[in-house]
Formats: sequence, structure tokens, C-alpha cells
Amino acid sequence: MSTPDWLTLTEARMRNLKGFDLHLPLARLIMVAGPSGAGKSTLFRDLLHPAATHAIKTGTPVLRGATFVKATGFEDESLEKNAAPFNTLIGANTFKNVIEVDQDPIGKTPRSTPATYLGIFDQIRRFFATLPEAKTRGHTASRFSFNTKGGRCETCAGAGRIKLEMAFMPDTYLPCDDCRGTRYAPDMADITWKNKNIAQVLQLTFDEAVTFFDFHSQLSQVCQLMVDCGLGYLTLGQSSPTLSGGEAQRLKLVTELTHGLATYRERSRGAQPRNLYLLEEPTIGLHLSDCEKLIHLLHSLVDQGHTVVVIEHHLDLLAEADYIIELGPEGGPAGGEMIYQGPLAGLLKIKNSPTAPYLRKKLGKS
Ligand SMILES: Nc1ncnc2c1ncn2[C@@H]1O[C@H](COP(=O)(O)OP(=O)(O)O)[C@@H](O)[C@H]1O
Ligand SMILES: [Mg+2]
Ligand SMILES: [Zn+2]
Repeated sequence: MSTPDWLTLTEARMRNLKGFDLHLPLARLIMVAGPSGAGKSTLFRDLLHPAATHAIKTGTPVLRGATFVKATGFEDESLEKNAAPFNTLIGANTFKNVIEVDQDPIGKTPRSTPATYLGIFDQIRRFFATLPEAKTRGHTASRFSFNTKGGRCETCAGAGRIKLEMAFMPDTYLPCDDCRGTRYAPDMADITWKNKNIAQVLQLTFDEAVTFFDFHSQLSQVCQLMVDCGLGYLTLGQSSPTLSGGEAQRLKLVTELTHGLATYRERSRGAQPRNLYLLEEPTIGLHLSDCEKLIHLLHSLVDQGHTVVVIEHHLDLLAEADYIIELGPEGGPAGGEMIYQGPLAGLLKIKNSPTAPYLRKKLGKS
């Protein structure tokens, strides 16, 4: 790896942060450790994120905290009126975007599904419109949508389920009797590819879809990324509000990676947009093998030139870091100090690091 350029935030002070300088190497995988309440979210999500966003928007190589506060009206209970939460932010203007990949749900309506979120459902509909039977009937791609009139089931308007309206009761849904939850009108059932109609394609898992779409390199690549991310068991048409927080976060991550695929042409022309990614606890709910897949994905983002910051408790993930940051030593007022920032090996030697003993054990060094 070449010598990194750096992102530097000096004198970070907000809530319990004690006015330290933060140095982040660009195009690296950076892990942030520290006990609950140490100040990790405060530093990265509540301070660095808005400040870097402002530096990007204004194209400022050296952003002063005072300028940032004046321009954005940034404030926090812990700060005196108009006081700056840092001294300077240096180098953030080289990013294209700051992207916080959170665990918020990705869609409130059952009309959103992993396939629509990833953008591959448009391609699948376009493909179905090229089938001879579709052409004979004059069906265009929009006919294969469950969101517009034409191909969708009109009884449920393509939702696949019907809301029961009962006073004083939480919303309850029943599968639609007419389409049996498939979302489509009956006449769409006999337009098939490899014996599957559009409704049955939405019932494929991503594991199955990799093979099903093996003739279509982009579709199969995107489905493979879902498998690589440990989401191969989801179906293309599962309604988004039913995804867990961890699943939603990984779906967002895969979507980010597919943007990387899409800009391949851009990159070969030498234009490489670099983003700053911020993730919190992406391994929640993952088995060890899926953790490894996730780590692989994070490395791919770094290989594309992005800088990835992961707030993480999982030791297996920490051991994968190119660069590690530890905040502590405790939570609340007894935290907010920079215990260590640098390569992993260096952390093992830090005497007052609460994480170091566990990492030494994990790596078999005492
Ligand atoms: N929105 C907030 N307003 C006031 N204090 C907060 C807020 N969020 C966190 N804190 C306090 O700031 C300190 C650092 O918290 P936080 O950044 O959430 O730690 P971590 O992410 O490392 O668990 C804690 O003492 C916490 O109680
Ligand atoms: Mg936190
Ligand atoms: Zn229906």
C-alpha cells in the first residue's frame, strides 16, 4: 500500500470529548473501539459527519470550527453559545460524499423490496419485456411492475395484502385473496422465463437468483454481492419493512458497492470518486462466517479507494483493521480521551488500553 493521505480533525471537544486531535489515513479500513459512552458516536456521527459534509459542500481544504459553526448554526447542549466543537478539519474536501450506513429501516411501504432498493427490479422488468410472449401481447417493462396499473393485481393495488381497518387496533394485514399475495394480475402468470413468471422471480432468494440470472452478468453480479454479504437467504420481493436493522444496513452496503460496479467505466477513465463511509456495529446479528463476508465487503470498498470507519465491539472485526482507534478509558465523563490511534500492532503495546489484553489473547500474543 502506498503512503496514505490524511484527514485531520484538531481539538475535538463536544460532550465528553477532551480536545484531542484525530488522524485518519485515507483509503484504509479504520476500526473504532472503546466502551459504551466513550464518545465514539459523538466523534464520528455527530461531529465529523456534519463537519466533513460542510467542508465538501464548500470545497474547503482547511475548515475552521468557528467558520463551520457560523455557516451552519451547529450547536450542542455541551457547547457554550457559538463555541466551536473543533479547531480545524483538514483534508475532508477530497471526498465526494460522507455516507453513514445506518440501521434505519429502508422503506416504510411494503412496495419497497430488496430488488427495488438495489435497482435490479427495473432490469428484470426490462428483461421480461423482451420475451417473445410479452412482445406478442405488446407488454412493455412497466406492465411488469406491481406499482402501476396494468400488470398489477387491482384488488390489492399490487401490495399483495389488504389492510384491515379496525378502530383502536394496530394495523393488521391479510394476504390478498385475488392474487394470493403475488401482487400480479392473473394474465401475467403465463409469461415465463425458465418456467418462472415475474411473481415467482420475486419469490427467488438471492442464492437462487445468482444461478437463475447467470446469463445476465450485471444481475448475477449484484445477486452474488448479496450472497457475499450474508443476505443470500432474503427473497427479491420480501417487503422492506420486515427486514431487521442489521439486514437493512447490509443491504445499504451492497447498494453502495453496486454503485462501485456501475462507475467502473468512470474509474477506467481515471475519475475515482472517493467517499467517507461511517458504520456502527455492522456485525450485529451475524454469525462468524457472515462476519468474514462482511469484512471482505469492507475491504472491497477500501480497494475502490474509499475510506471506511467502523465503530465495532467485535474482536474478530477489530483484528482486520488497517488502522485502529481506541477511545476511553471509560464511559461518560471518565471517557472522551484518545487512548490510541495507529496500526493494530501498536495498540497491543498500550498499557492503559482496555481493549489490548483481549486483542492480545485473540491474536495469541501475551
Ligand atoms: N445527544 C446527546 N446529548 C447529550 N449527551 C450525549 C448525547 N449523546 C451522547 N451523549 C453523552 O456523550 C457521551 C459519549 O456518548 P457516545 O458518543 O454515544 O458514546 P459511544 O458511542 O462511545 O457509546 C456519553 O456520556 C453520553 O451520555
Ligand atoms: Mg455509540
Ligand atoms: Zn392482490
